[in-house]
Amino acid sequence: MNEDNALDVVIGAGSGIGLALIERWQRAAERPSLAITRSTERLLALADLPGVTCEATDYSDEQLASLADRLLERGADVARLVICNGVLQGEGYRPERAVGQIEGTAMRQVFELNTFLPMRVLSALMPVIKRSRSPKIAVLSARVGSISDNRLGGWYSYRGSKAALNMMLKCTALELRRVNPQAKVLAYHPGTVDTPLSKPFQASVAPEKLFKPQRAAQALDEVMAGLTIDSELSYLDWQGEVIPW
Ligand SMILES: NC(=O)c1ccc[n+]([C@@H]2O[C@H](COP(=O)([O-])OP(=O)(O)OC[C@H]3O[C@@H](n4cnc5c(N)ncnc54)[C@H](OP(=O)(O)O)[C@@H]3O)[C@@H](O)[C@H]2O)c1
Repeated sequence: MNEDNALDVVIGAGSGIGLALIERWQRAAERPSLAITRSTERLLALADLPGVTCEATDYSDEQLASLADRLLERGADVARLVICNGVLQGEGYRPERAVGQIEGTAMRQVFELNTFLPMRVLSALMPVIKRSRSPKIAVLSARVGSISDNRLGGWYSYRGSKAALNMMLKCTALELRRVNPQAKVLAYHPGTVDTPLSKPFQASVAPEKLFKPQRAAQALDEVMAGLTIDSELSYLDWQGEVIPW
């Protein structure tokens, strides 16, 4: 591994926020970026950007392991890793308003995408993260994953899956303290961003509180740049303010 192998990686780069981040990093041209997504439409949108490599994935353990192997083989030094995957609702299900609305298949899907998938990515990429000089890892969580900030209830699976994600990221930060103390992990709340995920809920959001993906990408970039390497998991919002657990 050497300085020439420095790389920024976005997983779930088809997300509104991930795509805007890749485009922002591409303009800054600090180092090459790797965009990983299952979305062919997004792959096409990114394919011609100089300095950006795009790869399709199905997020299977096998494909994530193969990604890790290829990064190891080229001696990649991951400078920034952002994991964007997440869902609030899907085909045939909406966020639950009452405990009686919880339904197993929907709940499993939400936990799969919001908790298990980001952790499977981190598991697969751990050998690369360990060998990188000072990797900053941001995982898109949400303020509603805060237990102490939960005053309204509802959104059982989404809240629960993000709270579980936060706990597993805490374990990751503690593990990295031993194996790569120069790493930093961030559980991040981007604010309410104008993307497909928030579309059905935007009517109740004041226009000045609904961020364009480009603004969200700028905020995430700035918050990541300001992170202190302290072997702790940070849980921060788009203003860089601490969110209580
Ligand atoms: N938008 C908001 O207001 C808001 C607020 C708080 C937190 N967040 C969090 O921010 C993150 C990004 O959200 P966004 O608003 O940018 O959402 P978005 O544009 O709807 O993007 C959805 C993301 O989830 C992934 N995804 C969706 N279905 C998937 C599936 N079946 N298998 C694997 N991956 C799947 C997509 O990956 P591909 O690239 O592979 O398609 C993409 O990364 C999420 O974790 C979300 O919870 C968003």
